Amino acid sequence: MLTVALPKGRIAKETLEIFETIFGDSFKFDDRKLILETPNFRFLLVRNQDVATYVYRQAADIGVVGLDTLEEQGLDVIRLLDLKRGICKVSIGMRNGEKLDFDKPEIKVATKMVNITKRYFEERAVSVDIIKLYGSIELAPLIGLADMIVDVVETGATMKQNGLEVVEDIMTSSTYLIANKNSYIAKKDKILDIYEKINEIIKAEQKA
Ligand code: PRP
Repeated sequence: MLTVALPKGRIAKETLEIFETIFGDSFKFDDRKLILETPNFRFLLVRNQDVATYVYRQAADIGVVGLDTLEEQGLDVIRLLDLKRGICKVSIGMRNGEKLDFDKPEIKVATKMVNITKRYFEERAVSVDIIKLYGSIELAPLIGLADMIVDVVETGATMKQNGLEVVEDIMTSSTYLIANKNSYIAKKDKILDIYEKINEIIKAEQKA
């Protein structure tokens, strides 16, 4: 039995579809249920930001989560496979026409990804004042809370509609299959089996 942590929403749906394709079975959560038991798997529906915690603490053997979240949280889990889904960027956004100026004193950066932001500016020896927000990040530069934002950009529509533009990309992210280190040893055959099956599907999709 493998326990699989999935983030609520589109990624969970897409991952369950992959499992359906592999096993020719139906994998669907009942209405508000957070656990789905099948003969070989136990699926858990968790918040995106909690997937790596479940896996790191071995409450789940494997999980599916965005690389951006993994980089932000830095939990020690195995990154097994890039699922080539949920592709987005973590980028710096500013008001239209404004430019990045590392010499400006006291740059204020609003973000929900504090660690990625910290690392990015530290590597460039730029001191910034990081303002942690939990959402609606695009609002911060508009009302003078911050000079810039570091945020996830998928279509770019949110920035555009709020008069912001990307001035620099920090990283590209996509969804990853991850595993707990101990589970990877104790349940190696099962994990490698599902890894190989999912990998075949991803490879076929890439060729199509
Ligand atoms: C992200 C991000 C942006 C938006 C970007 O938030 O914080 O607001 O998506 O997407 P776009 O480039 O396609 O407009 P998300 O909807 O993931 O919600 P969250 O704040 O709960 O993470």
